[in-house]
Amino acid sequence: MRTCRFELSPAYAHLEEFCKNIAQEFAQSNATIHRARNELKTLHVKGEALVVKSFKVPNLFNRIVYTFFRKSKAEKSFKNAQKLLDLGICTPEPIAYIEFFKNGLLHTSYFIAKEWPYDFTIREPLLEENFPDKEIVLNTFAHFVHTLHHQHITHKDLSPGNVLIRRENLQMCVVDINRMGFSSLNMKQKLVNFSKLWAKDEDLEKIITAYADKEKIDVQEANTIALHYSQSLKRKKGLKRKMKALFTKRP
Ligand SMILES: Nc1ncnc2c1ncn2[C@@H]1O[C@H](COP(=O)(O)OP(=O)(O)OP(=O)(O)O)[C@@H](O)[C@H]1O
Ligand SMILES: [Mg+2]
Repeated sequence: MRTCRFELSPAYAHLEEFCKNIAQEFAQSNATIHRARNELKTLHVKGEALVVKSFKVPNLFNRIVYTFFRKSKAEKSFKNAQKLLDLGICTPEPIAYIEFFKNGLLHTSYFIAKEWPYDFTIREPLLEENFPDKEIVLNTFAHFVHTLHHQHITHKDLSPGNVLIRRENLQMCVVDINRMGFSSLNMKQKLVNFSKLWAKDEDLEKIITAYADKEKIDVQEANTIALHYSQSLKRKKGLKRKMKALFTKRP
């Protein structure tokens, strides 16, 4: 037996039928914009440009957890988007989340948001040496994260693909928001938040210098802490990758 649970933003009540048919609609579209653990497609429905995120089916243990003990990632994304918009932080407008259950446990789930057209993500200025206005973009990004922290908001997956940027006024918008924190952080926690950017030391230094200036904290100390945690995460991930390669090596 398969059941469905969904919540739709009242402003998009006209998309109810589409939401109920999301599994077929998603499968029929070939407009994939991103495919890794999860898959995202753009869909155009009744004049709306939507981005639909289909979450990978969790393993059995997590299917139990997400059914009985925790909100699904789709529901979290939807609820966090509403909270962020209420706090004045830019994130694509949430439209709905839909969960499908199989044998009583969470199976597939979807999060639908409005498409937020953008020009680049923070990944490009971090990777390209000669990215236009790189210094200004990194400064604006530092101020953006400061605004989040100042409002006691933490994007717990602050990785480069999760910050979308429009050239005009360098407007920044966060996606991939199922893991957000809404409580105050101490200084170390704030600086550790930058580690997942995977930034080169010199770029991280530029970001942290602008951030420390806004936070009114010691620039040197802030850079030492941020670099320490960024480098140690890189080392840990590197080691994990090496171990994985070693253990998956065929004889
Ligand atoms: N509403 C949106 N409008 C425009 N582009 C979007 C939107 N949502 C996501 N994207 C694009 O899709 C990419 C991937 O989205 P997202 O980060 O949510 O998925 P993900 O990284 O696969 O998630 P996870 O890390 O959980 O596997 C983003 O980097 C961005 O390019
Ligand atoms: Mg992402």
